[in-house]
Amino acid sequence: MSSPRKILVTSALPYANGSIHLGHLLEYIQTDIWVRFQKSRGETCTYVCADDAHGTAIMLKAEQQGISSEELIANVSAEHQQDFAAFLVGFDNYYSTHSPENRELAELIYQRCKEAGHISTRTITQAFDPEKQLFLADRFIKGTCPKCKAEDQYGDNCEACGATYSPSELIDARSAISGAKPVDKESTHFFFKLPDFTEMLRQWTRSGTLQEEIANKLAEWLDVGLQEWDISRDAPYFGFEIPGEPGKYFYVWLDAPIGYMASFKNLCQQDPTLDFDEYWQKGSDTELYHFIGKDIINFHALFWPAMLDCANFRTPTAVNAHGFLTVNGKKMSKSRGTFIKASTYLEHLDPEYLRYYFAAKLNSRVEDLDLNLDDFVLRVNSDLIGKVVNIASRSAGFITKKFDGELAEQCAEPGLMDEFVRAGERIADFYERREFGQAMRLIMSLADQANEYIHQKEPWVLAKQEGREQEVQAICSVGINLFRLLMVYLKPVLPAMTAKAEAFLNDSLDWEACGRVLLGHRINKFKPLMTRVESAQIEAMLDASREALAEASPAAPAVESPLVKEPIAEEITFPDFAKVDLRIARIAKAQHVKGADKLLQLTLDLGGETRNVFAGIKTAYRPEDLEGKLTVMVANLAPRKMKFGMSEGMVLAAGPGGEEIWLLEPHAGAQPGMRVC
Ligand code: 2FM
Ligand code: ZN
Repeated sequence: MSSPRKILVTSALPYANGSIHLGHLLEYIQTDIWVRFQKSRGETCTYVCADDAHGTAIMLKAEQQGISSEELIANVSAEHQQDFAAFLVGFDNYYSTHSPENRELAELIYQRCKEAGHISTRTITQAFDPEKQLFLADRFIKGTCPKCKAEDQYGDNCEACGATYSPSELIDARSAISGAKPVDKESTHFFFKLPDFTEMLRQWTRSGTLQEEIANKLAEWLDVGLQEWDISRDAPYFGFEIPGEPGKYFYVWLDAPIGYMASFKNLCQQDPTLDFDEYWQKGSDTELYHFIGKDIINFHALFWPAMLDCANFRTPTAVNAHGFLTVNGKKMSKSRGTFIKASTYLEHLDPEYLRYYFAAKLNSRVEDLDLNLDDFVLRVNSDLIGKVVNIASRSAGFITKKFDGELAEQCAEPGLMDEFVRAGERIADFYERREFGQAMRLIMSLADQANEYIHQKEPWVLAKQEGREQEVQAICSVGINLFRLLMVYLKPVLPAMTAKAEAFLNDSLDWEACGRVLLGHRINKFKPLMTRVESAQIEAMLDASREALAEASPAAPAVESPLVKEPIAEEITFPDFAKVDLRIARIAKAQHVKGADKLLQLTLDLGGETRNVFAGIKTAYRPEDLEGKLTVMVANLAPRKMKFGMSEGMVLAAGPGGEEIWLLEPHAGAQPGMRVC
């Protein structure tokens, strides 16, 4: 037998200033299933994580709460760990980036990069809050949009019209923290010379480390040319001071991934079987996998491998990115109650429902995953209760009552058993390749076969006939053994239900259990393994999520009237109004705009001509949901040159912003090009 693989696995480190929600859980559950699968197969697999504890946002939040940053991160860490444990996410170590190990490693990596000549310094000019004595990142500056004059817009783009600009162009710019008018101020910053690693990255990104779509995207970035990466921030900042540079701190994103190493190092100090250097030295033959969301690819697939390489450490074996979670086809929304915190979910529903639902829909690609709540109820009840639990509950009673818990001495259906065992290798291959949805489909088709077998053999009919006891025992023993194999296959997804099955079967269900059949074996009394999920529980959870939001911000109603925020514009005359040519348009194509957080690029069909329009609606709509829809556009607006291209019109939408933007959708009978009056 070959010796076990040595695998180190991480999930992205959650920020220590907010609660875990279902969007986070998609990643932790995906990773945890993969890790549990490896452990079940007998591999030496270690799963570490930590809170991402540094940065301005955390410092300001602590200040708001009137506590120290250290206190805040301790409170949040306890909450995070409680949520993860409740969702059965089994970290081998959960640590913090604000730790001595992380400081030491961050300093070491920085020193090595500096000694090798890959750190530069230069003076940059930035907005500065003279009241708070703090440099302001773009998201901490607000003001009036220079293009459309909408108030209260962020420093880099306008949510109302989609324009992008620099904070200095904002009208009446002010610090979102103190309200003071920002001033320009110079400061020396430290940079990691990323372009020095272009060739190394070109090779690394093409060596099977990344999903194809990501490798392609990175190849484009590499062709365009990489920029030096600003790795320092000025005091006041909650983080690690750069050695020998008083008042200069490592940027949170520098020490965040190093937190993976630090958490592992901390674990090595507690577990003598793990050797830090064996896992992290250059040329290590251990495996290192990072599971992340698609929004943080540049940090993990450019900066991180380059820094590791520069500091003479090994690079990751693979970075596995997943898409975002939507709920009922839309972005999670506080007012719809679909922005669901882990703790709110747990008050209403079993965590294993969600683990199974995610598993059933996950694949190895970077696609978004939709949690459709109706489908959730149907799938959990039909697959887990209706198929899997049913096999055990139909078979167990006879074995307990009529045979004192004793299974038959011989297997009555070796062919069927063998089929189930052989399917195990295909299921294992799906798990290994993160094709969990395919694994679940195969497992459920086996469950169908097992139910069909019991259905055809009708042990309940035989049980009433004289002299057919042995047959009943044989059939039900096959049923129990088939159920047992299904639970082996489901153990990575459903560890709690499997623990109950292990107690019932009086057996342990790691993967090697497939090599045995339970014959002449005593099982325990069957107890319910899982209860049905009811729609009322879902409704209660959505209501509770809406209420939690109202409590969190009592001054801000869930949907604010936009009129309250934006005064009515200056009066216009009828001829002014008549100049606006409103037309029905069909959204022929909708796509993301590279580098834009808020904009979507729409190709609008006006019934005979098409227009290219950039609309600031990305926070509310996914492009694929828009294609084919009708909307209303201002068709005679002069074309405007935007950063990403020419915008030839404007679509009409309403709402306060964020995920609450609604496109005007005319009656389906309307035709593209029709005039709106
Ligand atoms: O995006 C985030 O939530 C970051 N806190 C993830 C950090 S992952 C790693 F690099 F630490
Ligand atoms: Zn604007």
